[in-house]
Parts: sequence; structure tokens; C-alpha cells
Amino acid sequence: MKSKVLIVDDEIDSLELMQELFESKGYISDTATNGVEAINKIKLQEPDIVLTDIRMPEMDGMQLLNFLIKDHPNIPVIMITAHGTVEAAVEAMRIGAKDYILKPIRLDEILAKVERITQLNSLIKENEYLLNRLQQTYDFTNMIGKTDKVQELFKLVKDVAATNTTVLIRGESGTGKELIANAIHYNSTRVKRPFVKVNCGVLAESLLESELFGHVRGAFTGAIKDKIGRFELANGGTLFLDEIGDISLNMQLKLLRVLQEGEFERVGGTETLKVDVRIIAATNKDLERAMDEGKFRQDLYYRLNVIPIEVPPLRERKDDIKYLIYYFMEKFNKIYGKNISEIDPKAMTLMENYQYPGNIRELENLIERIVVLDKRGSIKTPNLPAYIRAAEPEEVDEDVDLEKGLSYLVENYERKIIINALEKNGFNKFQTARQLQMNRSTFLSKLKKYGIQ
Ligand SMILES: Nc1ncnc2c1ncn2[C@@H]1O[C@H](COP(=O)(O)OP(=O)(O)OP(=O)(O)O)[C@@H](O)[C@H]1O
Ligand SMILES: [Mg+2]
Repeated sequence: MKSKVLIVDDEIDSLELMQELFESKGYISDTATNGVEAINKIKLQEPDIVLTDIRMPEMDGMQLLNFLIKDHPNIPVIMITAHGTVEAAVEAMRIGAKDYILKPIRLDEILAKVERITQLNSLIKENEYLLNRLQQTYDFTNMIGKTDKVQELFKLVKDVAATNTTVLIRGESGTGKELIANAIHYNSTRVKRPFVKVNCGVLAESLLESELFGHVRGAFTGAIKDKIGRFELANGGTLFLDEIGDISLNMQLKLLRVLQEGEFERVGGTETLKVDVRIIAATNKDLERAMDEGKFRQDLYYRLNVIPIEVPPLRERKDDIKYLIYYFMEKFNKIYGKNISEIDPKAMTLMENYQYPGNIRELENLIERIVVLDKRGSIKTPNLPAYIRAAEPEEVDEDVDLEKGLSYLVENYERKIIINALEKNGFNKFQTARQLQMNRSTFLSKLKKYGIQ
């Protein structure tokens, strides 16, 4: 994008000269002959940089500078100074001008300074823009959830974000663990520092070690130069250790040391490095069981589990499904330029009744697919994949004898289902109870009631 330069000088000749120069280099330029005129132009159309002479009638360069610092602190200012005003220029730098140039003006000098400052400024702006976007992405408006359970969870996430403590996020696959880790970082005081992610589950042990801690040249075959590890990269910020339940006992020990002492060596290195890193870990593994089986170190577990955050599976927050559906529908409408606005109530019920073993990710993928394939502008039952349509209530037998009464019919059906489930589970009572999502005693009393041996 072209930068806009505003040049302020009471000498028309030098104004014209500079304007010509900037226009020839692709800048958009505007001019003013005194401070008052300059301020009016700045208010109308904010320039990217202001060059101002110091000595001018009406309002001089110093007054203009003061106005800019107060009302437009992001616009950089370069002072143009003639003999006799050098001291003023130095004073201007002290109060916030970015640079100054001496008259008579050297065009290459002025151009170089303006280029350097506008480039730097656009980098800063871009960076702020990106950071803002990230913060928006991970602010709580993009985390959908109205059920009490999830509202409590969000509140915990907010509270935790404000602290520096280690967090362990637990939950089934696709429940939103990574989203929460991001939300914690981007709502914390470390927001301007790096958020670094490592997926501990996908890397072999030796690779993981050098990924986390870095290595020195020659540490192993293939280590042709020094490499900075993720702990160093995350210094001052947050390190997200995803799939922490998948790391080897050996790596667990090494991690434990960094968590306890905050220090480590690069692989093959002798220098001990110290870092300030906040740890967020996540897993879908049953760590308690892994500890019982000797696969996860207890000491590491306690180090990580300072603040445990449990993310519930989608089937335990059914009331959120419809909100998520509308949210994803909007999202993919935008991405794919579609305009689906309606969801048939029957289709909605089917989607709400499905169990979503892949949780929110599965629901998101489902909606994406429906939006991509949509031709009607609405979501109806035939748009749904067969496995979701299968969640429809069982059809009632045509020849059912309604005269027998509802409770008899229901009980008879219940009996059939239990026998069928027992057969499928090799007559293992507890396994059957679990599959039918019943507690043991209710299940046993049903067996007794129906005389099932
Ligand atoms: N509350 C929510 N609102 C909106 N979108 C969500 C929510 N929770 C998760 N998502 C979305 O669901 C998808 C899966 O979330 P995420 O990757 O955070 O899950 P995960 O628990 O880390 O999964 P896995 O265990 O498979 O790594 C992402 O696209 C995420 O943006
Ligand atoms: Mg994840």
C-alpha cells in the first residue's frame, strides 16, 4: 500500500520540490504551509508520516508536533530544521519526533529517512493487526457454549488466564482442548510473547527431545548446525505441550527437570539454559490409569496438574449443539460464499440426538460438508449422512396390538432389547449394563423383573 506523506513548510519552493520527489517514488503526498492548515488536513485524512519545518508563521512546527503527540501518537514526525533551529530539533526528538533533517534539504537523505520510518511503522501496524486478529479469534465470543457446565469452564479459563500457573487440559478428542489453550495464552499477560505448540504424540523420542530442548551442532548424525528448541522459542511466553500422555518415561523425566528447575541443556550441549515459560499441557489419555500401569510418572503428573481443566464431551452438553450448528453454519457460509439460513426442525433434532464420538470437531466437519454440498439454502433430513439419520426414533411395528396398552408394550420392547444386548455382549451382565448406559443395580433389577437368567 502507498504511504501518505504530509509535508508542512512555509517555503513554497521547498514544498514543491519535496512533493515531486515523493510522488515520483510512489508516495501519496499532501502539503500545508503552516501548522493550522496541517492539523485540518490530518483530521480529515490521517497521513502515515508528517514532515514539518520548525519555523513557520501562525502555528510553528513545535506546536504541530505537540498536537500530534497528544492526539495522533501513532503518526511519526520528522522535523525539518534550518540553521538556528537545531536546538529546537534536538528538543523535538526528546519529546517524540522520530528524526530531523537539516536544510538545505538533501533529497536522498530525506527519502531514506521517510522510507525507513514508514516501513517500520507499517510493520508495527501489521503486527498489531495480526495480534488483534489472534486475540479476536481466541476471545470468548468464538467459544460457543451456553450450558452451565461450559459456562463454568469458560469462567475457569478466564480466571486461569490471568495467572501464570501450569494448566492441564483433559478431554476427549475434538472437545476443544487446543482452543482453550490458545484462549488462555491470548488472554494472559504473556499475549505479546510467543505461543509455541508441540505435539508430543507424533514425534519419536529423539526428535521430540531436540524439538523441545534444541541441540548443538554435531550432537548426532544430521545435526549440522545448532538448533533452538521450543522451550527457548517460548521464552517469556507459553509452551503448549499437546498429547502429553503419549511421551516416553525417559522424556517425562527430562520434562520434569525443566518444570522443576526451569533449566535444561540443548541435546549434546554443556551450557545450562534458563527460561521463563508457562506450560499448558493437554491430553485425551487416562493419566490416572497410565500411572497405575507405570506408564506415567506421578511426580510429573502433579507438576502438570496444578490447575486441571476438564472439557466435557459434546454428548454431555447437548443443549450447545444447536448453537454450535448455527455458529459453524455462519462460519462456512462465509468461507464458501453460501447462504444457508434455515434448518428443518426434524434435521435439527437428528443432529442433536447423535452422539458425536469425535465431539465438536466431528460436528464442525459435518456442517462444513453440508454447507459445501448444499444446493437448496436450507438443511433438511436428506442432507444428513445416513449414520445421523439412523439416530431417528425406531419405527413402530405396523402390526403392534395397541389394545395391550402402552406400558405392557414398552416393557415388552425393553425386555427384547435387554436380551438382544446380552447376546451381543456374550451374556456379560456388567458390560451389557455399560453399553445400555444403565447403572448396575437398575440393570440387575430389570433382569429380575423380566425373569432373564
Ligand atoms: N466451544 C467451541 N466453540 C466453537 N468451536 C469450538 C469449540 N470448541 C472447539 N471448537 C472447534 O472444534 C475443533 C476441535 O477443537 P480442538 O482442536 O481445540 O480440540 P482438541 O480437544 O484439541 O482435539 P484433539 O484431542 O483431537 O487434539 C476446532 O476447529 C475448534 O475451533
Ligand atoms: Mg488437540
